[in-house]
Amino acid sequence: MTINIKKCTLEDSRKLQEISYETFNETFKHQNSPENMNAYLERAYNLKQLEKELSNNSSQFFFVYLNNEVAGYLKVNTNDAQSEEMGDESLEIERIYIKSKFQKHGLGKYLLNKAMEIAIECNKKIIWLGVWEKNENAIAFYKKMGFVQTGAHSFYMGDEEQTDFIMTKTLISLY
Ligand SMILES: CC(C)(COP(=O)(O)OP(=O)(O)OC[C@H]1O[C@@H](n2cnc3c(N)ncnc32)[C@H](O)[C@@H]1OP(=O)(O)O)[C@@H](O)C(=O)NCCC(=O)NCCS
Repeated sequence: MTINIKKCTLEDSRKLQEISYETFNETFKHQNSPENMNAYLERAYNLKQLEKELSNNSSQFFFVYLNNEVAGYLKVNTNDAQSEEMGDESLEIERIYIKSKFQKHGLGKYLLNKAMEIAIECNKKIIWLGVWEKNENAIAFYKKMGFVQTGAHSFYMGDEEQTDFIMTKTLISLY
């Protein structure tokens, strides 16, 4: 089993769109209406939006490959790219998605470790993320990885207001 990681560039926008659609659908279509799913997909993952995010110096995307096949991706944000005002000492994991057929093979942990590596390199003290309160699989994964719930915020799936738990992991003691 060979695992590789590659930082995405602007040229990867279509490939990023493909895996974003596929993994978002796999994860959420069973618990959300097709109308709300489509509204979210069109707003968040249209090519123009993805190209804007790929061009933002405070965001980084990575593809993870298993035996040369793209198996998942990671998006991390710092500074103003974070979706909440968490300050300059924080790094956000905005997206971490593994295709369902590749889950439970250690790839999520591999991407999460990559995010922690970036955070430590950039002298960040906190790593955080928002996760839908009904996404039990991801919440269990994050807890296993040492995250704790420290808050909540609203998230719009189409016209439906949903609650995301904010989960945080402290990397370096502040004291
Ligand atoms: C959540 C997700 C990223 C986890 O990735 P994964 O590749 O399946 O998880 P891994 O195989 O790397 O698991 C790492 C560790 O977490 C544990 N773990 C994973 N899922 C778990 C679960 N549902 N419950 C308990 N432990 C879990 C594993 O047992 C493993 O433990 P170990 O280190 O002791 O062996 C993946 O399931 C996924 O992409 N889900 C769909 C998309 C999603 O919900 N993304 C998050 C949006 S906020």
